[in-house]
Amino acid sequence: MLKALAAVACCSFVSLGLLVPSPVSAQTAVRSQPDRQQWYLNAGKMTYVVGVNEQGILQSLYWGPKLSDRGVVPVAKSLPERASQYAPAATTPQEYPAYGAGIFPETALKVNSPNGDRTLILKYESAKVTGSQLEIVLKDTNEPLRVHLYYQTFPEGVLARWSRIENTGKGSFGIENAASATWNLPAGTGYTHRWLTGMWGGEFQLNEEPLKTGKSVQESRTGHTSHEANPWFSIGKEEQTTEEAGPVWFGELGWSGNWQIVTEYTSLRQPRVTGGYNPFDFHWTLAPGTSLETPKFYAGYTDGGDGEASRILSQLQLQEILPKRGEAREPKPRPIIYNSWEATEMNFTGDTQIALAERAAKVGVERFVIDDGWFGKRDDDHAGLGDWTVTPKKFPQGLRPVIDRVHALGMDFGIWVEPEMVNPDSDLYRQHPEWAMQFPNREHSEERHQLMLNLARPDVKEWMFNWLDKLVSENDIAFLKWDYNRIWSEPGWNMAPGSSPEHPNPDAEKAIYLEAVRNLYDVIDQLRAKHPKLEIESCSSGGGRVDLGILERTDEVWPSDNTDALDRQDIQFGYTQAYTPQTMVAWVTDVPSMDHRMVPLQYRFVVAMQGALGIGANLTKFSDADLALSAKLTKFYKTIRTTVQQGKLYRLASPLTGDPSQMEYVAQDGSQAVLLALQHSQRLRLPYPTVRLRGIDPDAMYRLRPLDPEKYTGEEVVSGSVLMGDGVNLKLEGDYDSTALILERLP
Ligand code: GLA
Repeated sequence: MLKALAAVACCSFVSLGLLVPSPVSAQTAVRSQPDRQQWYLNAGKMTYVVGVNEQGILQSLYWGPKLSDRGVVPVAKSLPERASQYAPAATTPQEYPAYGAGIFPETALKVNSPNGDRTLILKYESAKVTGSQLEIVLKDTNEPLRVHLYYQTFPEGVLARWSRIENTGKGSFGIENAASATWNLPAGTGYTHRWLTGMWGGEFQLNEEPLKTGKSVQESRTGHTSHEANPWFSIGKEEQTTEEAGPVWFGELGWSGNWQIVTEYTSLRQPRVTGGYNPFDFHWTLAPGTSLETPKFYAGYTDGGDGEASRILSQLQLQEILPKRGEAREPKPRPIIYNSWEATEMNFTGDTQIALAERAAKVGVERFVIDDGWFGKRDDDHAGLGDWTVTPKKFPQGLRPVIDRVHALGMDFGIWVEPEMVNPDSDLYRQHPEWAMQFPNREHSEERHQLMLNLARPDVKEWMFNWLDKLVSENDIAFLKWDYNRIWSEPGWNMAPGSSPEHPNPDAEKAIYLEAVRNLYDVIDQLRAKHPKLEIESCSSGGGRVDLGILERTDEVWPSDNTDALDRQDIQFGYTQAYTPQTMVAWVTDVPSMDHRMVPLQYRFVVAMQGALGIGANLTKFSDADLALSAKLTKFYKTIRTTVQQGKLYRLASPLTGDPSQMEYVAQDGSQAVLLALQHSQRLRLPYPTVRLRGIDPDAMYRLRPLDPEKYTGEEVVSGSVLMGDGVNLKLEGDYDSTALILERLP
């Protein structure tokens, strides 16, 4: 559910033929102009305008810098036909194009009606403004089908759009494709398109290309958000947009199942972005009197460049999306986690965990997490998933003694779960083979020796909630690392409503794609409601499930299993384009890394400090010197954590383009700024380049507190204008050098 927003005291109801004027106020989030059949949506520094044209079709009219409350754009008018190749329906930038009346570009909706008609012509019926939300209702000219378009403005500078397709007739419609929204950008040339792709161990890779005529499709068919692509887009202008300045239209979806974003550039130079449920293998039976709601598609505009677009999304996530406790405006900053996975994998006992916990507490860790391997017959990844009871071999007295010891050491306790999966070698599977996703007579494809449970089934959902609730109720568990380590392969469900083993109905079974995700969301929501202090991390073999749908109900994310400090910088650089550093968990782990790279401990720490710092190294093998350095660096991190996690991020130098890379974070109230500076390798004895800070107060004086006094030998108190204009010089030398600098604003 969307969270409450800056309320706007304006309510109007407008329908064709009955126009009720609404007052125009300077503060309105949604301004209706009934005389012009237009709605102005203001979000932060952006305005978005829609209007009804002379044919009764809803058009996108404007998406750009904020318009004055007295400013109006020309009334909506359908575009002229361009010979027979371009009917007006296809050239006009429709707000929610449905297939029909000659539309051939990407459509947001495609529906089959009970009478065999496969087209729709959606015309405006009514509109309603409630606070900062607008609802526009469209109705098909022939069939008893309505589409409700929702617009929710957020003061951070983002608009959420989604739709609800309603069957008001007596027969069932079949929905082939239902997007949340189509976003039309201003027609023109010279656009660039950015998107995120990846793989296991290499998530969030940033792509950038000129926007070319045709379509670019980003999607997931894996059943979850996916490693291969993330549901985020960004469009800038070739000659104008940089990290620091220039126009950017950007957005991301809130859906953790199959999704699709189609970025299209028509021959008429119209950029359009359509996104929502993935039409691949999609079908939804819309029974009489029912509705289908699509996921939220959030989007914004800024003229502050790619950096500002990321800062807007970060603020949206902190203020509106992520779960909060009590009255706090922001979610709690993340505690420093120790996770034992890389240290022990599944080969441990309660005692080995306690030995790690003792070391972790000494270096300043605040939360101790036992990863995979504590349950069932889980000695390796061949068995045990589904049997969620503590394995007595490893914990003869249960989890209690370990949890008590962790608490006595001053940390809270977390544990790993993978609720949506089952190993064929498990009591659960032997008892309920029918709970795994499957097609009759077809072999299962196993991945990591495991199968997907069919969470669309109500009995699986009930079982899942019950054991999770029991686990959390019986043990003092503060945190779950919720994992998901395979993709879908046989998405069959012959017990779906409308299907049966005797009369299978493939279309009805496709409801599995939506129901499994809805039930996942429900289980997490119920669990959190019953255990309000419980925190959850979304993990899927690393960063396979990161989107605004899961982030509404989880506190943080494990962005990648790749903890190599050099690779991680690329991954984290991509991650921060779309998601806030608050959610970006980063562990310091042992070397050599999975890339066989040897990197000094401080460098690993400084990279992990770019987000929510954690430790995954085997601390029992650390030397005293390493333990002391770790303790020093976690202590340092605690003094910058709120700024890093909840401040404004300036990516000063990209790890993708050179040896030096720097991230700078400025606290929301401006009282502190932090510079994290890294050097990958030194060439030709060149000095580390001067770092020019950004986003601080030019008129203020700052006290500089270096992490390593020998690496910053400049003056202690420096003006903001000098720090941004002249910059600071750091002595980083050789390969894998790093440092940090705190800037405290003086009163
Ligand atoms: C996934 C996660 C890892 C770890 C293992 C445990 O790969 O991404 O962090 O939890 O599972 O099996």
